Amino acid sequence: MKLTNDPAVTVTDALNTRITVRDFQDMPVPEETLRQILTTAQRSASGGNLQPWHVHVMTGEKLAGFKEDALAMAQAGHRDEPTHQAYPSPLWEPQRSWRYKLGEDMYGLIGIEKDNKMGRLMWLMQNIKFFDAPVGIIITGDKRLEMPQYMDIGIYTQSLMLLAREAGLHTAPQGWWRNWHTVCHKHLDIPEEDEVLVGMSMGYANTDAAVNKLYADRAPMEDVVKFYS
Ligand SMILES: Cc1cc2nc3c(=O)[nH]c(=O)nc-3n(C[C@H](O)[C@H](O)[C@H](O)COP(=O)(O)O)c2cc1C
Repeated sequence: MKLTNDPAVTVTDALNTRITVRDFQDMPVPEETLRQILTTAQRSASGGNLQPWHVHVMTGEKLAGFKEDALAMAQAGHRDEPTHQAYPSPLWEPQRSWRYKLGEDMYGLIGIEKDNKMGRLMWLMQNIKFFDAPVGIIITGDKRLEMPQYMDIGIYTQSLMLLAREAGLHTAPQGWWRNWHTVCHKHLDIPEEDEVLVGMSMGYANTDAAVNKLYADRAPMEDVVKFYS
């Protein structure tokens, strides 16, 4: 797929043209566009209409200060215990291989070899800069939520990603921030009873960046869907 910032015009188009963008242009998103996306995303479904997402959106100087602090913490060797583990451990097949291949494909594109552990680690730190996106989002939820509400927050997250595509924007969902909640609580007005669940970079994709040429594999539909009649 050739990555483009052209707006998606159908849901199919939005899904097919959405990828996790890990290199953004230094171009602000108009506040009105951002507000429109966040307003429409409120239409996301949730069990019992609980709407369990709490959304913290940073731009401009606020985002710059947040990133600066996060980077300083990282450089000082700080890292939080994650609010939730990213994956089950140990991971089983085929998910284990899919995860492995994603990493190999991504690092292959940007030319960081497997034995260059430090290089890969350093590259991961792009997460802490929200991949240079002009918008950084942290989504929190009450610690008392149950699994179905995490699904609701996933649905909301997908709404943001698809609406962003309709506005000619791209996104990177970031579980990364579950490991960096100290900085989130320090800079944002997060209620005491909430925890960091996921973050997101949003902005205009740098369409020429090698890392943005990753169009991650998917299993064929027939492998995961069973039809009954
Ligand atoms: C909940 C969630 C958390 C993710 N966290 C990160 C992250 O912290 N850093 C990152 O680079 N990608 C992250 N990703 C992106 C996934 O690696 C990506 O969605 C997957 O490899 C499929 O690729 P695609 O989004 O380009 O289609 C996350 C995706 C999801 C849905």
